[in-house]
Amino acid sequence: MIGKVHSHAVLGINAYEVEVEADIAGGQHYFGIVGLPDPAVKESKDRVKAALANSGFYLSVERRTVINLAPADIRKEGAALDLPIAVALLSAQGVVDVGRLADYSIIGELSLDGRVKAIPGVLCIADGARRAKRRGLILPADNANEAAVVTGLDILPVETLAETIAFLNDRLAIEPHRVDLPTIFHQSSRYGVDFADVKGQQHAKRALEVAAAGGHNVLMIGSPGSGKTMLARRLPTILPDLTIEESIETTKIHSVAGLVPARQSLVATRPFRSPHHTVSNVALIGGGAIPRPGEVSLAHHGVLFLDEMLEFQRSALEALRQPLEDGVVTVSRASMSTTFSARFLLCGAVNPCPCGFRGDPIKPCSCAPAIVQRYLSRLSGPLLDRIDIHIEVPPVHIQELSRGQAGEPSEVVRQRVNNARQRQLERFRGCKSLFCNAHMETKELKKLCPLSDEVRSLLETSVARLGLSARAFDRIIKVARTIADLEGAANIEPPHIAEAINYRSLDREG
Ligand SMILES: Nc1ncnc2c1ncn2[C@@H]1O[C@H](COP(=O)(O)OP(=O)(O)O)[C@@H](O)[C@H]1O
Ligand SMILES: [Mg+2]
Repeated sequence: MIGKVHSHAVLGINAYEVEVEADIAGGQHYFGIVGLPDPAVKESKDRVKAALANSGFYLSVERRTVINLAPADIRKEGAALDLPIAVALLSAQGVVDVGRLADYSIIGELSLDGRVKAIPGVLCIADGARRAKRRGLILPADNANEAAVVTGLDILPVETLAETIAFLNDRLAIEPHRVDLPTIFHQSSRYGVDFADVKGQQHAKRALEVAAAGGHNVLMIGSPGSGKTMLARRLPTILPDLTIEESIETTKIHSVAGLVPARQSLVATRPFRSPHHTVSNVALIGGGAIPRPGEVSLAHHGVLFLDEMLEFQRSALEALRQPLEDGVVTVSRASMSTTFSARFLLCGAVNPCPCGFRGDPIKPCSCAPAIVQRYLSRLSGPLLDRIDIHIEVPPVHIQELSRGQAGEPSEVVRQRVNNARQRQLERFRGCKSLFCNAHMETKELKKLCPLSDEVRSLLETSVARLGLSARAFDRIIKVARTIADLEGAANIEPPHIAEAINYRSLDREG
């Protein structure tokens, strides 16, 4: 007799169907798994054997047992197929009613004592089970909150293998797990940090508000301890409110990376990712034999912070250009290619010079001008071209730190950002996949941001007088448009241009 169980495996952020078949026949003792299992799947035979024994099921040892995972041409990874393998084995022995098996998908890792443990990628798997029109998904109880985000199928949490079998044999009723999505989303959409924590720094805070309002990438230049990391951490809190759809997209990526905590439903706040400068290109961009999302995708709908940006490998910074341009990353392997979303706000931080103290009011800088020049010139190039706003972040005076008043809370700033984004969406009506000023191309800039003669001549003289590069020109107009949007102004006026020019400090250096 052959036992068959429906299950799923994840490729990218999509789940495909896997049929787990078990055949137990006469012959010499043998236990094998076929169908491109990776090492973790191969090990599942030991876990499954122990779990069956410790759950009180008898598995005949003198027989020939073969597990087949179909389709055979896609590599299966991880331990999530333990539970379906165990059920298929019991089904092959006639221990499980086949009636219910056909209606459900089963997924879960087994521990040796027969408990069912949480697995990554459950949101994607629940989505896959729904698309496969299954009546329900039997899954680890720790994953139930996450899976229940998907509606249209019964989410049936189990704690043990024995419980699973009891349910399939109709000896145990399991209530389908439900979550109240809007309530959960609302409850978990709070940040642990707030803009109000930052004392002083009015200039930097204003620049970050502009960056958030227009989706502009931003670079902070300041000596160690001046508060760059502190400010960057708070940038997600002033980005526009996350929608449930955006939250589900981000959760799927975090889910396949195994980053959604047990019993949590959604990633309901904008992500903040801060990879160390030694990060490998694969960890940053994504990839691997079985494609995994990289930091750029984990930052999808949030902030990617590159602290000490000049310390990153050149190749890593260059690899960032493509996702910055396209908002997606495509990872190609011999047999398959997988696409991960990667639309994030880039926030970089650098010291103003190698010793870090140039421009510091107290500590003297020990760097020769030529060295500073060479240091900053490493910043130039294609990546800097994608950064609309550069600001200097001077250290806040000790007195201001101890006596300074709390600033505006993030929620207040975020309201202004929401309003500015709303104005942008209205302007972009009819422009496909354009959601914020930073993503305008020259063509759209010409059409959507006309300049009066007065404004144009102000811009031209400033660019000439300050020696700004030609490429700064478009960026200044985009940022000026965002500043006008924050103010609710229909047209770009001279003060908007003047403020935007302020955010090009690196152009003036060179
Ligand atoms: N404006 C500020 N308001 C409140 N605390 C600050 C401010 N600037 C710096 N700090 C304090 O100094 C610490 C160091 O700041 P940090 O953000 O790590 O600096 P940087 O990243 O520029 O080296 C912060 O954790 C914070 O406690
Ligand atoms: Mg820092």
